[in-house]
Amino acid sequence: MIDTNRLDYKKDLEEVIFMFSSGEDISITHIEENDGKVFNDKFVFLGKEYNFTNEKNVKDLLELKRYEKRFSKLGLYKILSNYYGVNYEWGALTGIRPTKMAYMAGDDFEKELKDVFYVSDKKINVIKDILNTQKPILDKDGKYDDLFVSIPFCPTKCTYCSFISEALSKCKYVKEYVDALCYELDNSFSSIKNLRSVYVGGGTPVSLKSEYLIKILNAIKPYLKEGTEFTVEAGRPDVITEEKLQILKDYGVNRICVNPQTFSNKTLEIIGRKHTAESVIEKYNLAKSYGFTINMDVIAGLPEETFEDFKNTIDTIIKLNPDNFTVHTLCLKKGSELKNKIKRLAVGEVSKMTDYAYNIAKENGYNPYYIYRQKYAADNLENIGYSKPNKECVYNIDVMEETSSNVACGANAVSKRVYPEKNLIERYGNPKDVLTYINKVNEIIKAKKELFL
Ligand SMILES: C[S@@+](CC[C@H](N)C(=O)[O-])C[C@H]1O[C@@H](n2cnc3c(N)ncnc32)[C@H](O)[C@@H]1O
Ligand code: SF4
Repeated sequence: MIDTNRLDYKKDLEEVIFMFSSGEDISITHIEENDGKVFNDKFVFLGKEYNFTNEKNVKDLLELKRYEKRFSKLGLYKILSNYYGVNYEWGALTGIRPTKMAYMAGDDFEKELKDVFYVSDKKINVIKDILNTQKPILDKDGKYDDLFVSIPFCPTKCTYCSFISEALSKCKYVKEYVDALCYELDNSFSSIKNLRSVYVGGGTPVSLKSEYLIKILNAIKPYLKEGTEFTVEAGRPDVITEEKLQILKDYGVNRICVNPQTFSNKTLEIIGRKHTAESVIEKYNLAKSYGFTINMDVIAGLPEETFEDFKNTIDTIIKLNPDNFTVHTLCLKKGSELKNKIKRLAVGEVSKMTDYAYNIAKENGYNPYYIYRQKYAADNLENIGYSKPNKECVYNIDVMEETSSNVACGANAVSKRVYPEKNLIERYGNPKDVLTYINKVNEIIKAKKELFL
C-alpha cells in the first residue's frame, strides 16, 4: 500500500488511504524530510510525483513530530481527494477528539479547521454547538477525578464489535476476575481526590450474575458521595431484568444505558444482537419506572440499512424521549466479524443519516454535548452524544476532553493523570487479557499508586 520512510506514522497514512480506497491495490511512495522548520513531503502515486513544502516554527520534539505527521497526512489527503473527486465533511482531520483540538487552537480554531484541514462549515458549527453545551460543565482547571470500572463480558458477541469483551459463557475466570477487580477497587482510594463520576462499562456489566454485580457495586459504594454521577452500561435489553434494575437502584446508580442500536428487527438479527426492537421499548419503560437517567446508543450505517430504517430508529427514540442518546457511525473495525464480510462502506448515505439525527435532535430539545471519532468510520464521520439540558453525562465530557484525571480499574482500563498546569497527561494501561490482569493485579495496583502519588 504505502512505502514510507516514516514508519512511525505509517498507520496514520494508511488511515488516510482507507478513507478513499475501496480495497483496490493502491501503491504510494512517500519520503518525508525536514530541518525542524521547513517540512518537505514527496509522494509518488501512479507514476506522478507530488511535492509539498510547509514551514512551521516548532517549540519542542513533541510539536515537531505532530507537524511532521500532520503535513504528511495533509499532502496525501490532497492527492487522493483530488484523484477520487471526494471531499469529506471532516476534510483531512483525523484523531479521536475534534473538540479537544478546538480548545487547544483557542480563538483561531474555526480558521485552523477550515483553512488547514478543510473541515466543512457544517462540522465547524457542530463543534461550536458542543463547546457551547460544555461551557458550564467543562472541568477547565482539572480539579475533578472520575472512576472507570471495566467489565469485559457480554451475553454474546455482536458482529460489528471489536471491544475486547468476550461472551460470558466462553470465559473460565469470571469469579476470579470479579475478585481481582474488587481488590483493585479496594486499593484505589488513595488515587482519588475529588470524584465527580463513576462509569461501569465494557462490555455489558449487567450480564454478570447478581452475586457478582452486587460484589462490584459494594466495592464502589465507599467512593460515592451525595450527587456523584453513577452510570452503569446496562446495555443489552436481553439481560435487563427487574431484579438487576433494583440492585442498581439500591446501590446508588443513577444513570444507565439501554441500547437499541437500531429499531429494525431484521438488522438486529444481522448484527447478532439477540433481542428485538419491542424488547428495547419494554426494558426502556421498565428502567424509566425506576427513575434512572437513561441513555440510548444507536449506530448509523448498519449493514443493509436504508435511510428510512435509520429515520425510523431516530423517530422512535424521539418518541421514547430518553434523557440522552448517542449516535455512532459504523466503523469496520479489525477483529470484528463484520470486517471480514464487508470491505468498504457506501459513501454519502450515512452522512444523510447523521445529519437527520442532528437536526431532529435539536428540533426536539436535545443539545449535542460530546463528540468523538474513530478510525475506519463510514463516510469518515463521528459519534455524537445528545442530551436534554442539565442531563449531560459529565463522565463522557471529562473523558473526551481529557480535562479530569481518570482512575480506571479492570482489564483493558487506561488510567490517566492530568496535569493541567503542564498541559500533560500521564497514562497507565491495565493488561487487556483477563487472565493476565488477574495474575498481575498487585503489580498494577503498585504502578497506579505511583501514577497518582
Ligand atoms: C462499549 S459499547 C458497550 C455497549 C453495550 N455492551 C451494548 O452493546 O449495548 C458502546 C457502544 O459503542 C457502539 N459501537 C460498538 N462497536 C461499534 C462499531 N464497530 N461501530 C460503531 N459503533 C460501535 C455501540 O453503539 C455500543 O452501544
Ligand atoms: S456491542 Fe456491546 S454487547 Fe455487543 S459485543 Fe460489543 S460490548 Fe458486547
